[in-house]
Amino acid sequence: MERIGKKLKNKINQLKNIIIQENFIEFIKKISIYLKKNLKKVLICFPPIDFLIFYFSIVNLKKRIKAEENIDDILETAGYYKINYKKINAEEWEDPQKISYERKGVELCKGKYEGYGKYRFNLCQEKESIKKLLKRVKSLGPSVIMEIGTASGGSLYTWCRYLKDLEMIISIDFDFNGREKLFKSFAPEKEMHFIEGDSHDQNVFEKVSKILKSKKVDFIYIDADHSYEGVKKDFEMYKRFASNNTIIGLHDICHFGTGVPKFWKEIKRFYKTEEFGEKLQKNGLVYLKRV
Ligand SMILES: C[S@@+](CC[C@H](N)C(=O)[O-])C[C@H]1O[C@@H](n2cnc3c(N)ncnc32)[C@H](O)[C@@H]1O
Repeated sequence: MERIGKKLKNKINQLKNIIIQENFIEFIKKISIYLKKNLKKVLICFPPIDFLIFYFSIVNLKKRIKAEENIDDILETAGYYKINYKKINAEEWEDPQKISYERKGVELCKGKYEGYGKYRFNLCQEKESIKKLLKRVKSLGPSVIMEIGTASGGSLYTWCRYLKDLEMIISIDFDFNGREKLFKSFAPEKEMHFIEGDSHDQNVFEKVSKILKSKKVDFIYIDADHSYEGVKKDFEMYKRFASNNTIIGLHDICHFGTGVPKFWKEIKRFYKTEEFGEKLQKNGLVYLKRV
């Protein structure tokens, strides 16, 4: 809201300048062009309208949650990526950078939850890979988890809905765009913390530290900065909240064109690991317990 307020102030100042420097007709023209372009954006920030779109989104979400009986239903709510391997021919596999760049063969299956405005979310994961990962994580019974890279909240939804025994969830992203109240409704009975900022910032690290006190994180999921240095830094920084039994999940361990595969290859030399999924959009799990 604070940011929107600042933006609005800037716009008002710009308009004041137009009135002073140009004539009134010019001013009206510029206002109508601005409104034509941004009416929807301006209106949905208006508190009563935000309240309504949140309310109707939650009504739909509750209906979906009620209808969920198993992991497939949860994934149907959140949506997922489907990879059409037929669209990727053998020749293209020879130059995988190209595949990931064009996202060829990767199709988005929209979730059955129908949200409005900013209260929409979609899981950015290939279905089979996240399904297998979720099952494995659940079998290890984590009670405190941390996710780096929330985006619109798709994977957060799956943790909240499928890992029923969770007690605490910490989620980090640069910007939640005011969606925290939607995220909280994924699992109102659980303790949830949302930290906005760069995960590599000491500030963010300290906020996590304050929340956890002496608690350890059982499952850390890294799906944020996909550069080699970025993922390595997240791994090294947040591993400090881990116990011997902690597991760390990484997304896109074979997503060509990112630095994750290089880091994954390296980390496999030191820890027991497990992979979930095929080729593109694979998840990996690191067992910190030395074997
Ligand atoms: C691929 S999306 C996450 C998708 C989500 N986990 C899902 O499966 O639905 C990556 C997110 O990480 C965030 N991100 C990237 N680098 C980050 C950083 N250094 N600190 C915090 N968030 C970061 C981006 O803003 C983006 O929302």
